[in-house]
Amino acid sequence: YAGAVSIPVVVNILEDPAHPVTQAHIDSQIAILNADFNNNNPNTAGVPSEFASLVADVNITFTLAAVNRKASSKSSWGTNDAMKLSSQGGIDATDPANNLNLWVCEIGGGILGYAQFPGGTLATDGVVIGSDFLGENTAGGVYGHGRTATHEVGHWLNLRHIWGDGRCRQDDFVDDTPSSDAPNYGDPIYPTVNCKSNDMTMNYMDYVYDNAMYMFSKGQNDRMRTIFAVGGSRESFVQ
Ligand code: ARG
Ligand code: ZN
Ligand code: CA
Repeated sequence: YAGAVSIPVVVNILEDPAHPVTQAHIDSQIAILNADFNNNNPNTAGVPSEFASLVADVNITFTLAAVNRKASSKSSWGTNDAMKLSSQGGIDATDPANNLNLWVCEIGGGILGYAQFPGGTLATDGVVIGSDFLGENTAGGVYGHGRTATHEVGHWLNLRHIWGDGRCRQDDFVDDTPSSDAPNYGDPIYPTVNCKSNDMTMNYMDYVYDNAMYMFSKGQNDRMRTIFAVGGSRESFVQ
């Protein structure tokens, strides 16, 4: 699907007073998503020439549709989707066939965020971001520049981790991302060689610091856009 895609975002916040989420955090996160999915991340100038022709403008726009807040003293929600269900103390999703629901809460366990892939249960569809990692957020440190949401929305749009979550021959189902056998962390020095090729460590679907990730590839763009085509798992977002 090649047309314009606009995704309304509903932000659901389980408010822990020790980790406040401000409107500025929310607005900066929407701006960061729009920059990253429209090839406007200023760090993209640092993409090595080897990968420069592969940088994608995914051309997806995110708009803030609503913000829902609910007080919560829970400091460790985990990853079992309780934050997505009012019956478990969370906030129910708003029309998930037509909105990206983004839950913000204290996940715990050192987890920055997690996502549901396309094609899953509608009631739990969306992404979860730890309270300190939404938007520009000084509490997030090296993960305080909004790239957890970019990475998780990549999963929500059907992207796998760049190393395929396995050894060299385990694929991420994208042809132009070089094979690798494990995540990269921190701020890698180019070139980082694994599986006899240079890793695309600056890809949003690696595990590096927020400021060290600044591209989706054209192959990833094609994989994301496929789900908006007729019969695709997120066709409902396209009118
Ligand atoms: N660990 C998380 C995941 O695999 C998110 C990683 C995000 N990385 C970042 N630099 N913010 O889904
Ligand atoms: Zn991931
Ligand atoms: Ca690949």
